[in-house]
Amino acid sequence: MSSNHGAAIEFEHVWKRYRLGEYVRRKRRRRTLKSELTLALERSGLKRVKGEDLGSGFIWALADISFRVEEGESVGIIGPNGSGKSTSLKLASRITVPWSGRVHARGRIGSLIEIKSGIHPELTGRENIYLYGTILGLRRKEIKKRFEEIVDFAELHRYIDTPVKRYSSGMEVRLGFSVAAHLDPEILLVDEVLAVGDESFQHRCIERMDQLRATGQTLVFVSHVLADVRRLCRRVIYLDRGMIRADGPADDVINIYLNDVAERGASWRERMPAGVGDGSGDPNGPAEEWPSHPRARARYSRDPRV
Ligand SMILES: Nc1ncnc2c1ncn2[C@@H]1O[C@H](COP(=O)(O)OP(=O)(O)OP(=O)(O)O)[C@@H](O)[C@H]1O
Ligand SMILES: [Mg+2]
Repeated sequence: MSSNHGAAIEFEHVWKRYRLGEYVRRKRRRRTLKSELTLALERSGLKRVKGEDLGSGFIWALADISFRVEEGESVGIIGPNGSGKSTSLKLASRITVPWSGRVHARGRIGSLIEIKSGIHPELTGRENIYLYGTILGLRRKEIKKRFEEIVDFAELHRYIDTPVKRYSSGMEVRLGFSVAAHLDPEILLVDEVLAVGDESFQHRCIERMDQLRATGQTLVFVSHVLADVRRLCRRVIYLDRGMIRADGPADDVINIYLNDVAERGASWRERMPAGVGDGSGDPNGPAEEWPSHPRARARYSRDPRV
């Protein structure tokens, strides 16, 4: 049994799946003792999952992920599109729950995962700051003390009493990041949505995260901008098709990732007639889904290079 003493975040054999295709409204399965038992057996891998065979309508966004982030650690998560980075942050911030396995997160979490995470479009910027602060467990007085700083950082003075639905995407991200990074969360989770902000805002965000990191706040940072990841994080986790391909010192892991990108790029060029490309083999493009099931976990062996 593992202990999460000292860990800000811990993932234990986490599996997360999503349904592919259009969501079809079905009759809700009644929660009976039998259906709960069936689900528990399916999740533990002891029973075959209905509709789970290859070609069925599910994708494993994460497959048997285990890692710990210690208090005060800064960890970067990198990987191709669709490799499960945002899904990991959503699980850590409890926006969604795992299909099986456990996710522990200790402390107040400030997160900027999707542009709209934590931000309500009908409310004004001011109302959102108070709402978010309250959700984080702060008192009105504490939020008031930081209010000016949040608005200054986001540079939204003129818009602070306008409903957020009238903000541009960049303005929404400014508000979201500023609130998440100034209301003293113990864990800060930031996804690459920052890219929507302009150059100078992105620069200030990186500086702010650097400051928070230096003061011992736990940070999990997802980005495709490897220079930012290198600057903020000593440790990096590289996800590939929902699995941990490498986890270790930033430089080593980033090198493995860049080698993989180069290899995929080379095999893509080999397969394409000169000058032709439909983007489907783009080395940075979507990774193929991993079609396995918990029962097939033994077939996967982790990369031993890190
Ligand atoms: N709500 C959802 N419904 C169905 N599938 C989903 C959902 N969210 C994520 N997925 C799928 O899960 C997989 C992992 O998605 P995720 O968003 O975690 O990738 P990512 O690594 O953050 O990619 P990117 O670099 O493009 O942001 C993808 O195949 C995606 O299509
Ligand atoms: Mg993502």
